[in-house]
Amino acid sequence: MKKITKAVFPVAGLGTRFLPATKASPKEMLPIVDKPLIQYAVEEAVAAGITDMIFITGRNKRSISDHFDVAYELENELERNGKESLLKALRSIVPRNINCIYIRQNRALGLGHAVLMAKPVVQDEPFAVLLADDLLDGETPVMKQMTQAFDYYNCSLLGVENVPREQTRSYGIVASRPLDETVEQVSAIVEKPKPEDAPSTLGVVGRYVLTPRIFHFLENIQAGSGGEIQLTDGISALLNEEQVLAYRYQGVRYDCGSKSGYLEATVKLGLRHPEVGKEFRAMLEGMFGQSAKKTTQTSEKTRELLVVGGKS
Ligand code: G1P
Repeated sequence: MKKITKAVFPVAGLGTRFLPATKASPKEMLPIVDKPLIQYAVEEAVAAGITDMIFITGRNKRSISDHFDVAYELENELERNGKESLLKALRSIVPRNINCIYIRQNRALGLGHAVLMAKPVVQDEPFAVLLADDLLDGETPVMKQMTQAFDYYNCSLLGVENVPREQTRSYGIVASRPLDETVEQVSAIVEKPKPEDAPSTLGVVGRYVLTPRIFHFLENIQAGSGGEIQLTDGISALLNEEQVLAYRYQGVRYDCGSKSGYLEATVKLGLRHPEVGKEFRAMLEGMFGQSAKKTTQTSEKTRELLVVGGKS
């Protein structure tokens, strides 16, 4: 089996959950501290040794391609003003060996359809899919964990974690049996089942490594949940022919498709940001320390954030 060198980033979604912020700019460009969500996902792919970044874009998404392009005027200005560290930050957004490829999905027909749009570029190679909404924070970047698992198992892998049963409606849910500590053999997958119908509580997060055979099934499935061509349904069909594994990654997921997950990521990553972390911590301690004294009711969640956020 070949090495994974290509990653697909479906970024054509409308981001209605973040309106009005996403009225004129893409949800993938929402920043966590000082980097847009899509940059976290691309950095994760780069860390996994992936070199071809394939963005499936749509209307109103031009700022994503601008972000990964060279901004000559801005660079000249920073150079003239001696702003070396900002210049370095700008230039490191896309390392030299990385190619960015943009494919326009002109109708929002679903995640499966978006992934299928990458077929002419991916062709007959295994590839990664990263959904930028899910910010995954792992000591070893999660896509790297998954490509390493792929090198070993040579089959499609789905990043999974346990989700609360009442939330199965938000995820692809797998039926599986454990093979070892991190990997489960998938026997079925369902898109967004009701809690009472879910085969388990093991939910697929936005990380996939897929064999190119998936394209055949995506070309042939009908619209499913929500009237959309679902990646989950393509994977379900793939299961009849190939082994698919659920991979329990090491790390923390922030669901940045939801406002509370987005805020949580901002706090946690803000607390360990090299430039503003210390100041931010003092600010939070000031806010919550005082209110705790007043009300005698300390927020456990806040305390946990302060402790966990300070791990590095
Ligand atoms: C998509 C997938 C779903 C998966 C989820 C992970 O749903 O369709 O199977 O569990 O991403 O974030 P979305 O969140 O785009 O509705």
